[in-house]
Amino acid sequence: MIKEQKAIDKNNPVISIRGLQKAFGDLHILRGVDLDVYKGENLVVLGRSGTGKSVLIKIISGLLLPDQGMVKVLGEEVANLPTRELMALRLKVGFSFQNSALYDSMTVRQNLEFPLVRNSRNLSRSQINDEVESVLDAVGLLQTIEQMPSELSGGQRKRIGIARTLILRPEIMLYDEPTAGLDPITCIEINNLINEVQEKYKTTAIIITHDLTCAKETGDRIAMLLDGQFAIQGTFEEVFASEDSRVQSFYNYNFTA
Ligand SMILES: Nc1ncnc2c1ncn2[C@@H]1O[C@H](COP(=O)(O)OP(=O)(O)OP(=O)(O)O)[C@@H](O)[C@H]1O
Ligand SMILES: [Mg+2]
Repeated sequence: MIKEQKAIDKNNPVISIRGLQKAFGDLHILRGVDLDVYKGENLVVLGRSGTGKSVLIKIISGLLLPDQGMVKVLGEEVANLPTRELMALRLKVGFSFQNSALYDSMTVRQNLEFPLVRNSRNLSRSQINDEVESVLDAVGLLQTIEQMPSELSGGQRKRIGIARTLILRPEIMLYDEPTAGLDPITCIEINNLINEVQEKYKTTAIIITHDLTCAKETGDRIAMLLDGQFAIQGTFEEVFASEDSRVQSFYNYNFTA
């Protein structure tokens, strides 16, 4: 099923990037990235392994600094922010990591309480319980609240990882390879969850993937990172109608591998 097209307010970019460059030594990873992400949309970033997708979202969330260019998130230029403002911005940007590591020695409840207690100090016990139960319910795993991560499936752990990011009510969600390593049925569940999160929490999201089904199901728009730049952006159909041989080979590789 292809995602329904929704109206996007193009006057309202939540993330705005111009001329972004990033190198590690001689390795020029990002070579002039321009990108706008609009309020309420799910933007999928596609690209082969090692093209700099994770580097890009680490720069967006202030975990890495750009070498050159402008990166504005919620109106703030990330690279120029003093530490305190950067920390405040980071609370609005939820980062769901490539390997959403949970704390193995803590229950699901404790894993979810952890970011909440650390970042919002004035909550009462019952408010904390309510928040934990509300996000667990949103990801459909309320019944696992007292379990240990080791007792959960890979897909369930991913969902808990997403819940742990959601608990701080971010305005932006950055998903790094949300379906990597999951079986096709579990991938469908995660894709649905990403769309439910968008609906319920009204988040703007960047979803990094090389899973074309995930791209099609979750992306309102697709941007493809090729040779350090977003050469092609558009709907799934628009992007893959491109005659660019790099796009075609990405598509063929994914659907024939
Ligand atoms: N902190 C770092 N120091 C040095 N090199 C780095 C660093 N982070 C990333 N790189 C290099 O930058 C390149 C892009 O890495 P990145 O993790 O963004 O790739 P990716 O597109 O996310 O790939 P994958 O699909 O495999 O996750 C790689 O060659 C990687 O080794
Ligand atoms: Mg990556």
